Amino acid sequence: MKPVRKAIIPAAGLGTRFLPATKALAKEMLPIVDKPTIQFIIEEALASGIEDIVIVDGKSKRSIEDHFDSNPELENNLREKGKDELLKVVEETTDINLYFIRQSHPRGLGDAVLTAKSFIGDEPFVVMLGDDLMDDDEPLTKQLIDRYNTTGESTLAVMKVPHDQVSEYGVIAPEKEVADGLHQVNSFVEKPKPEDAPSDLAIIGRYLLTPEIFEELENTKPGKGNEIQLTDAIDTLNKRQHVYAHEFKGSRYDIGSKIGFLTTNIEFGLKHPQTSEDLKKYIKDLAKKLD
Ligand code: UTP
Repeated sequence: MKPVRKAIIPAAGLGTRFLPATKALAKEMLPIVDKPTIQFIIEEALASGIEDIVIVDGKSKRSIEDHFDSNPELENNLREKGKDELLKVVEETTDINLYFIRQSHPRGLGDAVLTAKSFIGDEPFVVMLGDDLMDDDEPLTKQLIDRYNTTGESTLAVMKVPHDQVSEYGVIAPEKEVADGLHQVNSFVEKPKPEDAPSDLAIIGRYLLTPEIFEELENTKPGKGNEIQLTDAIDTLNKRQHVYAHEFKGSRYDIGSKIGFLTTNIEFGLKHPQTSEDLKKYIKDLAKKLD
C-alpha cells in the first residue's frame, strides 16, 4: 500500500460570500487574528506527515504565492531592527514543499481537484478545504490517514450538523458502523433538502481519496449549481470501491460564512496570548451595553 504523502488545497473559488473583500484577495488569505486561514491548513498537513502540497489557485490568487515566498526586504528590515521573533514567524512560511496549479475557470471543487491529477499520479492523497479549521488532540488529516492505513480505502471526514443546515453540505447515507466512528456508506448526496437528507452527517473539509477518483471526476457531469461536484464523483467511486466516512469528534470552525468567520476570530482571539486579556475585557464591557 502506497503511503499518503500529498495534499491538494483547492483555493480557486470566487469567494462570493466575502465580496468585496475577495475581489482581489483570495478568501483563503483572510486572517484569523494574525494568520491567513490557508496557513492553518498547511500546518495541519505538515503535522499529519504530508510532504508535498499543491495549491489550486485561480485569478487574484497572487497573494497566496507571495505569502509562502521569501520577502528579502521585510526579512532584512526585521533582522536590522533585531525583531527576531517576527523574523522567525515570517521565515517559517517559506520552507515548505509547495506547488501551484491554476484552475482557469472556477468550474467547481471536483474540477479543481482534477486539475491536480498529474501532480498526484498513482498515489492516495488528501484534499483539504480552507473553509474549515479543525481542532482536536490529533490533526483530522492524521486521523484520516490512520483510517486509510487500516482499510486501504478512501475516507471522508463527516460531522453531525443541525438538520435544518444539511442543505449546505454533502451528506452521507450511512450503511453500517464498521468500527467506532467509521461508517460504511450507501450513498453521498450533495446539498439535499432537509426533507430528502438521508442523515445529519455532513461532509466537512477533509477528504482522503484513492487515485481512482480521477477517472470518476473525468466522467462527472456538472451537478448542483452547474459545477463539477466532488461529492458526485465520490458517490460513483463508492460503487467501485468502498468510500468510508470517519466521524470527527473535535471542534470545527466554519469560516466559509460571515458569521462563522467572525465567531472564529473571536474564539481564536480569546486564545491568542497577545489579545486574550484585552478581548475578554472588551467582550464583557460590550455585553453589558447590549440588550
Ligand atoms: P466554496 O463553494 O466554499 O468556495 O468551495 P467559493 O465558491 O469560493 O465560495 P462562495 O460560495 O462563492 O463564497 C469550497 C472550496 O473549493 C474551492 C474554494 O476555493 C473553496 O476553498 N473551489 C471551489 C475551487 O478551488 N474551485 C472551484 O471551482 C470552486
